[in-house]
Amino acid sequence: MEIKKDKDSRWFDVELVPESYIFSPTDRPQNLDVAICDSIPVIDLAKHIQPIESILKASQEFGFFQVINHGVPEKIMSDAMSVLKEFFHMPSKEATGYVPHNKGWIYTNNDCTKDGVHIWRENLKHLCHPLDKCTKLWPNKPTRYQEVIAAYLLEINKLSFRILEMICEGLGLEPGYLSDTSEVQILSSNFYPSCPDPSLTLGILAHQDTSLITLVYQGDSTGLQFLKDGQWINVGSIPNSFVVNIGNQLEIVSNGKLRSIDHRVVTSKDKTRISIATFVNPSYDCIIEPAKALVNKNEPSRYKASRYKEYVDRNKAFGDYTVALRDVVISES
Ligand code: OGA
Ligand code: NI
Repeated sequence: MEIKKDKDSRWFDVELVPESYIFSPTDRPQNLDVAICDSIPVIDLAKHIQPIESILKASQEFGFFQVINHGVPEKIMSDAMSVLKEFFHMPSKEATGYVPHNKGWIYTNNDCTKDGVHIWRENLKHLCHPLDKCTKLWPNKPTRYQEVIAAYLLEINKLSFRILEMICEGLGLEPGYLSDTSEVQILSSNFYPSCPDPSLTLGILAHQDTSLITLVYQGDSTGLQFLKDGQWINVGSIPNSFVVNIGNQLEIVSNGKLRSIDHRVVTSKDKTRISIATFVNPSYDCIIEPAKALVNKNEPSRYKASRYKEYVDRNKAFGDYTVALRDVVISES
């Protein structure tokens, strides 16, 4: 049967996975039906018994946890999700590749890995700090994008710093040690369309985040997996929760006490996924090294000091274009 392609058909409107999206057998997701992990810690931030201990334990054992009763209004979360859904469903976005950096945001629907294999996703990325300077540099279609996402990021700021302060206290560091030089720096939203054969493709390859912490809002979708004892485990979906994971910078500052863990996204045959990841990063000029209070004779420093900007530059996965976006924000100020 002939497949009819109209002018609005998209790259994922296919019955077979195109060759350029097929990963080699060693990179492919095996075992797609691993049970949803029922032990990923779910932390209720409204509980009066201090959740700090649970956050620390989860960050040591898994590098991942979910938070509920976190104080972010549901409406702000669902509005953000729906405006991004609208963005990704707009029939013609400006380009099929990277939108020029001078706009202050990047959209792509065809990025590929270093082996040249395409990943099964579209991505929109922009800077978020300082929020009042960045907002006007974001997409203005849909027309309510800037307003809705700015409201979302105000809440994400509050929640992210609250979590960082809890981690700080749990590690025995002085208040502000993690927050004072940090910012909710980048928003990266992913759209993973349904895929004819999820066993051949990946939405995002295994990676670690270069952040301090990352918050992911995934609506009611699944697909995010993390590595635990050599096995890929599904992060379940809990309504109105955020997934929090520890990034490389916090692993360094904690001198290895907290762990930045490999994670990836697998695709689904019948469901789409939209995720909103926000990266809480050190400001670019900050020097990151193990906290002095956590280094002693028995526990010598395990990581070299590095300026965050240089760390990002070395780690091209995110570094190359987010630093270029930063130059747009600076030139606007
Ligand atoms: C990331 C990431 C997960 C997701 O952007 O670093 O891991 O669900 N995202 O999109
Ligand atoms: Ni990640």
